[in-house]
Amino acid sequence: MEVLSVASEAYPLVKTGGLADVVGALPAAVAPHGVRMTTLLPGYPAVRAVATGKPVHRWRNLLGADAQLLKGEIAGHPLLILDAPDLFDRPGGLYGDATGQDWPDNWRRFAALSKAAAELATGAVKGLAFDLLHVHDWQAALAPAYIRFAGAATPSVVTVHNIAFQGRFGADVFSALDLPAEALSVDGVEYYGGVGFLKAGLQAASAITTVSPTYAREIRDPAFGMGLEGLIAARGAVVSGVVNGIDTDVWNPETDPALAASYGPRQLSRRARNKRALETEFGLDRDDGPLFCVVTRLTWQKGMDALAAVIDDLVAMGGRLAVLGSGDAALEAAFHQASSRHPGRVGVRIGYDEGLSHRLQGGSNAILIPSRFEPCGLTQLYGLRYGCVPVVARTGGLADTVIDANAAALAAEVATGFQHDAVTPDALRAALSRVFEVFATPDRWTAIQRQGMKGDYSWTVSGRRYADLYASLVSSTADAVTPAAAAPTRSRRRTA
Ligand code: ADP
Ligand code: GLC
Repeated sequence: MEVLSVASEAYPLVKTGGLADVVGALPAAVAPHGVRMTTLLPGYPAVRAVATGKPVHRWRNLLGADAQLLKGEIAGHPLLILDAPDLFDRPGGLYGDATGQDWPDNWRRFAALSKAAAELATGAVKGLAFDLLHVHDWQAALAPAYIRFAGAATPSVVTVHNIAFQGRFGADVFSALDLPAEALSVDGVEYYGGVGFLKAGLQAASAITTVSPTYAREIRDPAFGMGLEGLIAARGAVVSGVVNGIDTDVWNPETDPALAASYGPRQLSRRARNKRALETEFGLDRDDGPLFCVVTRLTWQKGMDALAAVIDDLVAMGGRLAVLGSGDAALEAAFHQASSRHPGRVGVRIGYDEGLSHRLQGGSNAILIPSRFEPCGLTQLYGLRYGCVPVVARTGGLADTVIDANAAALAAEVATGFQHDAVTPDALRAALSRVFEVFATPDRWTAIQRQGMKGDYSWTVSGRRYADLYASLVSSTADAVTPAAAAPTRSRRRTA
């Protein structure tokens, strides 16, 4: 089966978050199940750089842009690149300028990506044919709407990695989207008086997935659905949750070149070398108390304001904290201030650093993830695999992947981390005291680390889930199309 996967980022070419990890890993995850996945990405400079050969298609007017389609490879799998310099070749970030301001033409950039995807998926580009289209998040979500309003039958899957990002724009952009007038309706792309890219995709796709079973339930609720809960509930029969896997080659503590000392579950004492290296790197005191880390976007979603409010308590309890992240200026400042208040106890690196994210997982004792919502979350999975015990809010994929070290789980030796309910300073303080209590008994702590490291966080199970979903959609489309295959004959008769 040939599947076209479309997204705005994919590791290792372009990444701002977990979306890229997942899109980059999917082709290998579904390959063992007979799925050949081609990934379509925008031609940002870093993507354009891996293009090989001559253009395979040219659009003179793709929503106003001159564009061509290039071929390449991503991690040994086929890649298509939408090379449209006016849209994608600019300095700054993937979604905005260097100051973090969204590009004002994001609607056109990602509508163009979606339109190209829909044309590819419906066979409009000679030499390329696909059985199914899989799009990720709002940036690609208009594609199923283009397919639907073109009257084509290619089945499609929309995966929601984060329903907070919806691609909402004013109704004034509609006329430039090259959709028929009837598309601006409640069951089309219209959304609260404007245009909603994710909404349009959720409405038009054959199936909707999100990245954990708990999040799939949560987004039916107004507290999580962010306005789309009604639509998610209405389409409930086609909504499912498939938990993300991780790349177990890139994230393997036994072979990770980023670590001072590699280790397996039976060599946990070797982590001490990595911890010492982190202490040096972050200018932290050396002691045997727990070293906590944070690797994240510094945002409200991630509960970083609640964490900032308990740093003094964490330090008073005898802990140290190493933070790697970037995001809201106010949160960056709050962490900088905490580090000045607590020299030797709190170290902060503002920025994005892949190698350091590995070193933190390989040397810290625990990773703090107090997210207010978390569709899946990958850093807790990296933590589990690295014996860096996750301390997480009980939401979304965090709830699905971490087993809380309550009395029963500890007794049964199945605990892999710590969960807390509310994302408030009080709840975080309570969770931290539980962590300190268990950390004081090294055998118990090691048992939690080992239990986490034993888990299977690979794509084996979820790769099959996606492949099964694709197969069922392709076969039901074939069933639906077979009787209609007679339609051209009928219509010829009618016009005759
Ligand atoms: P989200 O996609 O919501 O940001 P995830 O946990 O799914 O959250 O994925 C985050 C990904 O980005 C992980 O691979 C994590 O290691 C990485 N990451 C986040 N912040 C940083 C950073 N400052 N430096 C390096 N990697 C980071
Ligand atoms: C989003 C979510 C995160 C998820 C990632 C990959 O960025 O915030 O929870 O792990 O997508 O699916």
